[in-house]
Amino acid sequence: MKLLATSLLLYLSFLLEANAIRISGRRIPWEERLQKRGVMSATLQDDGDLKYFTNITLNDEVFPVLIDTGSSDLYVAGNVAGAGNTGKTATVNYAIGAASGPILTAKMELEEFTVMNQAFILDQSGNNPKGEGLIGLGPNSGSEIHTTLNNPNGDTPLDRIFRQNASTPNYLTIYLGRSEDPTDPFPGDLTIGHPVTGFENVTSMPKLPVFEVSDGLGQHWQTLLDADGIIGPDGQPVQVTSHVKNGGKNRLNAIFDSGFSLPQVPKAVADAFYARVPGAKLTNYTGLGEVYSLPCNVELNVTFKLGNVSYPMHPLDTSLSSLGKTDELGNPVCIGAFQPIQPGAEASTYDMILGMAFLRNAYMLINYGDFVDGSSSKTADPYLQLLPLTADLAEAHSDFVRVRLMGVDDTGDFKLLPASVLPPDNDDNSDNDDESFAQKVHPYLPYIIAGSAVLGAALLIAIAMCIAKSRRQRYRRLHDPAPAGLEYGQQHGQVYGQQYSQQYGGQEYDPYSHDAPFTQYQPSRRY
Ligand SMILES: *[C@@H]1O[C@H](CO)[C@@H](O)[C@H](O)[C@H]1NC(C)=O
Ligand SMILES: *[C@@H]1O[C@H](CO)[C@@H](O)[C@H](O)[C@H]1NC(C)=O
Ligand SMILES: *[C@@H]1O[C@H](CO)[C@@H](O)[C@H](O)[C@H]1NC(C)=O
Ligand SMILES: *[C@@H]1O[C@H](CO)[C@@H](O)[C@H](O)[C@H]1NC(C)=O
Ligand SMILES: *[C@@H]1O[C@H](CO)[C@@H](O)[C@H](O)[C@H]1NC(C)=O
Ligand SMILES: *[C@@H]1O[C@H](CO)[C@@H](O)[C@H](O)[C@H]1NC(C)=O
Repeated sequence: MKLLATSLLLYLSFLLEANAIRISGRRIPWEERLQKRGVMSATLQDDGDLKYFTNITLNDEVFPVLIDTGSSDLYVAGNVAGAGNTGKTATVNYAIGAASGPILTAKMELEEFTVMNQAFILDQSGNNPKGEGLIGLGPNSGSEIHTTLNNPNGDTPLDRIFRQNASTPNYLTIYLGRSEDPTDPFPGDLTIGHPVTGFENVTSMPKLPVFEVSDGLGQHWQTLLDADGIIGPDGQPVQVTSHVKNGGKNRLNAIFDSGFSLPQVPKAVADAFYARVPGAKLTNYTGLGEVYSLPCNVELNVTFKLGNVSYPMHPLDTSLSSLGKTDELGNPVCIGAFQPIQPGAEASTYDMILGMAFLRNAYMLINYGDFVDGSSSKTADPYLQLLPLTADLAEAHSDFVRVRLMGVDDTGDFKLLPASVLPPDNDDNSDNDDESFAQKVHPYLPYIIAGSAVLGAALLIAIAMCIAKSRRQRYRRLHDPAPAGLEYGQQHGQVYGQQYSQQYGGQEYDPYSHDAPFTQYQPSRRY
């Protein structure tokens, strides 16, 4: 059913140490709140709303791993005592550096499940903090390890769990908490085969079919928004056109990626959200790309619609204070969390990537259906279910007033600028545009969140090194071992490179035929 090539997409987040991320106000310890909510478990750690970790063990040693529904491999950096060796190596390419190393096996524990001989990459690239890793929760078809081992021993952790006990329902759920939230500071949870306590009715939400990509550009957890499925801050539907031949021009194709901090939306959508805010500016930040900056005290209410259900966004998620950005005068500014889709993140198979800022507002269930290795195809289609988490608009509003307005609600005075200030929509792909679009896209280039000017400088160096490195890479044979990673941002907790890998299922595609700097460090192709 899916001999599809798969790609993974990621982000890099550059976290600040103390100064930006952990902006704290009057926070109530989440443990206390949890008890009040009766939620039993909290298996995620939320790092500044930019990364979410869970713990796994490998041969009884604990590793925090980033949870990433946009990729399909498990890696850890460091040592795993007593691990078995498959004799193979694998590389998962990053925008900056790569996760690369031997494919080992070990006993893995994830949630309440234990898997013997789980295959993983022991990352020796030097790019990633020792003692940590990343767990890819995407379809098995996207796994480098699986492709390399080419048998069920290389299945992803989720596939192994689903296959070893046929009674485990084939689904995963992810609840992402909000670190700035004064009333719901639950850091988040990841569950397999059952919903989070208190949120069981996610299973009665509409089943959103997963769109199966057939052109070899990569399978993701992807579905369609409703027609007029994005309501802007003025309460009106945002006028959009899909460039994907699926669902018609009026319905946008979205992928859900827990590894992407800032949702990537068509420029018309970001314009509709932010361009009418007095003081908002489209700004290029090093490593982050083009985003809107806006005053932190502006409350923006926007809503997405899927399966005839509205998913209002919490106003603390429409503008982010956690990136530590300032204007020319040094005053803090917020970043529009819904970013005009960056050139490197575009693909012909989808219109938008709904990452963490969206997912904090929708508890997501991913039913893998027959995407599990070894399933006979067309017996059970995969689907997604989303439960709105920001249904209480009054509470969300009062959260915003507490956190951003020091408790003084002056939002009644706020007025959007007239719609006439909106930039023309150059984004709209007309009928005959599809082909040229497909040619110019180069999917899955990650983007970067730069936390500070200091890191910005580190980034410039890193990018320069990457460009130099990938130029060398062009002349490498495809099966040469991956080059060693970059030596930067080694401090624990500062820099996280996430991988993305590409398999182009025999498609002709030249990843190097572009001019923008980011296009220079495409991974090598695999056939
Ligand atoms: C992960 O494990 C570490 C060490 O055992 C612990 O301090 C941390 O709280 C755990 N994190 C989560 C999200 O359970
Ligand atoms: C398989 O899963 C079922 C339901 O989750 C559980 O009751 C059973 O104990 C599991 N069997 C094994 C061998 O783990
Ligand atoms: C989910 O269930 C709760 C009570 O169990 C109910 O209040 C809520 O409206 C339900 N939500 C949806 C979207 O059905
Ligand atoms: C940001 O940089 C890109 C590439 O250099 C450029 O095309 C774009 O116009 C810039 N945007 C702004 C708002 O300056
Ligand atoms: C949404 O509602 C409309 C009208 O009630 C209906 O035609 C359509 O099928 C529904 N869509 C979904 C995805 O349920
Ligand atoms: C946002 O929505 C809340 C809840 O409906 C409302 O109280 C508030 O006035 C809205 N703010 C703006 C700026 O529209």
